[in-house]
Amino acid sequence: MNTPVQTAATFSLDGEDVPFEPGETILQAARRAGRYIPHLCWHPDFHPQGSCRVCTVKVKGRAGSACTLQTAAGEVVESNTDELNAERKMLLQMLFVEGNHFCPSCEKSGNCLLQATAYEMNMEDVLFQEFYPRRPIDASHADVMIDFNRCILCELCVRASHDIDGKEVFAIAGHGIGTHLVVNSMSGLLVDSDMALSDRAASICPVGAILPKRRGFVIPIGVRRYDPHTAADVDTQEAS
Ligand code: SF4
Ligand code: FES
Repeated sequence: MNTPVQTAATFSLDGEDVPFEPGETILQAARRAGRYIPHLCWHPDFHPQGSCRVCTVKVKGRAGSACTLQTAAGEVVESNTDELNAERKMLLQMLFVEGNHFCPSCEKSGNCLLQATAYEMNMEDVLFQEFYPRRPIDASHADVMIDFNRCILCELCVRASHDIDGKEVFAIAGHGIGTHLVVNSMSGLLVDSDMALSDRAASICPVGAILPKRRGFVIPIGVRRYDPHTAADVDTQEAS
């Protein structure tokens, strides 16, 4: 008697079959298959947050976050469409005007996921009026600094500090447009927290908000992560 051949369950992503493992999200399965779905607040080492909405896809015509939605056999998912990419571009444009992101003067330029994703989505302008919010820079710590102007509220530092470092150095406070990152210390300054340079939270920031000091130009501009490669290429290479 012939043994039945087990075939991996698949779902359809933009018209192509993508295999998945039980429990995988759309984003995880797509990425493992070398398919790029833009994302900002998702990171492979952490539970998904589902807050930036950049990974929004359509499943049977309904919008949802690819980083939080588990996939199912035979599901039909749209991601790389003009409509969804236009919405992603608008989200990115809003992020750029809500904070102060001056790429040419930011030492994270070339290593920044926000910048690389904006290039990926062909963002050529910010479309909206800039808010130019007045936000502080906390350089009080000997080894790590925070420029709150660049924070996109992805909460990766919050998750890294809690889940990996076993600390609670960061938290999110406020509501709506007033939502902001805070440092958990009596003074609110990093120097009075138990942050250490070796903490995962010190190196997880996808933009130039949390930076280790004295490292800015160790890797010169031009050969940084996203200088020779697109965000899509880096993302899918890292997954394989
Ligand atoms: Fe995300 Fe960086 Fe802001 Fe933390 S400081 S919430 S890692 S953008
Ligand atoms: Fe999915 Fe941010 S990456 S919501």
